[in-house]
Amino acid sequence: MTKIIGFVQLKGGVGRSTLATNLAGTMAETAKVALIDCDAPQYTCSHWLQQRNDLYEIDEQLDLYQPATYKELLKLLQKLDGQYDYIIIDCPPRIDGFSRVALMLSNLVLLPLGASAAEIWSIEAMLPVLKEAKQINSNIDARIVWNRFRGYTRSANENAEHAKKDLKLPEMRQKLGLRVAYCDAMADGLTVHETNDNNARVEIWSLNSSVRRLLSKQKKTRKLSDDKVLAFAKKH
Ligand SMILES: Nc1ncnc2c1ncn2[C@@H]1O[C@H](COP(=O)(O)OP(=O)(O)O)[C@@H](O)[C@H]1O
Ligand SMILES: [Mg+2]
Repeated sequence: MTKIIGFVQLKGGVGRSTLATNLAGTMAETAKVALIDCDAPQYTCSHWLQQRNDLYEIDEQLDLYQPATYKELLKLLQKLDGQYDYIIIDCPPRIDGFSRVALMLSNLVLLPLGASAAEIWSIEAMLPVLKEAKQINSNIDARIVWNRFRGYTRSANENAEHAKKDLKLPEMRQKLGLRVAYCDAMADGLTVHETNDNNARVEIWSLNSSVRRLLSKQKKTRKLSDDKVLAFAKKH
């Protein structure tokens, strides 16, 4: 059964594309993966995959799709169902139709977040949309992934503790650190798992393992009608 992972966030630069490419490439070591890049005109994931294919010959099934509209995204998800083990959706930095379709149909929604006030405020603004989405689809599993986390600073830990209390959103236990390897790997078309930064390698491997475990434990979800998904997507 194909599992969908959606990277959704209101704010730009929080690490959606970094996490989407790293997770896609790491999962593709042992699974068939589709990467859906909805973030025009940046198309960060598409550039990353282009680099990967230009510079290396990696034996993997990692395919890219670029739906032009949220309706196309919905059709694409239906078409690809059963063809891949995992589908990873990289959404734009706003709660538009793409993000709304991804919210409705992902088996796991990951919300990358840095432990700074600005990022935490931005995710607070998403809470009403998440609540509304859960009223339509009670199976939605949305979790924070702490990114660029400087665990050695007091402010990062305090911000994360406050956010945990205020946001009441579950989080992935594995936090990703602030590391040059993430920037370099992106530019080179690699995952940090393919670099020699051991801390980054372990982090992404651990995130990959816990995402897989979470998804494999999920019970079969009830199918949502297209009408319900489109009605929610149209509201943006
Ligand atoms: N954990 C990290 N450590 C260091 N740099 C990071 C990390 N995560 C993201 N970045 C950098 O931050 C910038 C924004 O990340 P990106 O994934 O493009 O954000 P988004 O897709 O949410 O707009 C990029 O230059 C990226 O390389
Ligand atoms: Mg991006």
